[in-house]
Amino acid sequence: MKPTIEITPLSKADIPGAVECIQLAFAEDPYFQWVFDTTRFDPGRNRASLTARCLWGMSCALFYVAKERQSSDDNDDQASVLGVSCWIPPQPTNQRRSWKTYFHDALLWLRQLRNNVLYLGRGGLRTRRYRLWKNHQREVQRELWTDPQGYYFCNLVAVRPDAQGRGIGRMLIDVVTQKADREGRRCYLESSREVPNVGIYQRMGFEMVRTMVCEEEGDECKLYCMIREPEIKGSVE
Ligand SMILES: CC(C)(COP(=O)(O)OP(=O)(O)OC[C@H]1O[C@@H](n2cnc3c(N)ncnc32)[C@H](O)[C@@H]1OP(=O)(O)O)[C@@H](O)C(=O)NCCC(=O)NCCS
Repeated sequence: MKPTIEITPLSKADIPGAVECIQLAFAEDPYFQWVFDTTRFDPGRNRASLTARCLWGMSCALFYVAKERQSSDDNDDQASVLGVSCWIPPQPTNQRRSWKTYFHDALLWLRQLRNNVLYLGRGGLRTRRYRLWKNHQREVQRELWTDPQGYYFCNLVAVRPDAQGRGIGRMLIDVVTQKADREGRRCYLESSREVPNVGIYQRMGFEMVRTMVCEEEGDECKLYCMIREPEIKGSVE
């Protein structure tokens, strides 16, 4: 039987494979290299941090994995994770954030605090740069997110380097853009690479709307902000 790729919501059993996939896909990423001091990078601390993010995402985000099943007898745990995507659901301006999201944000904060203690620090994360990026991101989103229905925000998409170019990234994006189309909503992402990523996302219907430049001590990181209009206007229940 030909291996088949399936897109499923992230489960606890998928987390180690998902974390490995993110680490491999982002090893050469310009944002990663800017925000981490790579000479002090601690992969174990980073694994713990990404695991906490995955646990948060299982409750608060649309978190998907792409898995390859070698044969029809494979059970879910045996399939390898080839790609992941994490989308923050839209937050309509007339709706308050739920208690559930406040609770899981607090839980994530506690888990990261525990990681700081267990690993004696942040494993090479340059916290000033991280905060600088977060502040820029808030400002840019405030300026660009004018639609009161809110935006599906593609917070992360990663495909293992040995599986790239096989259509997996598109599957991980289509699963949410198709939902957004049905609901008549816009999608948003920030790409840390102009080439080839901006072109890849343009093929999926995203358009470049602005660049975000984060700069510290003469070292800058550019992010490409892209919005996708819904292809079929629908109504939101
Ligand atoms: C960006 C990324 C998610 C794309 O996933 P992928 O599985 O390699 O992409 P796909 O094979 O699904 O290709 C999607 C489309 O882009 C095109 N494409 C893929 N790689 C391309 C490249 N290097 N140059 C130009 N076009 C490319 C494909 O032809 C395809 O177009 P089509 O569906 O219209 O035929 C993946 O390469 C990745 O994880 N990169 C490293 C991490 C990263 O940069 N993440 C994104 C941070 S913003």
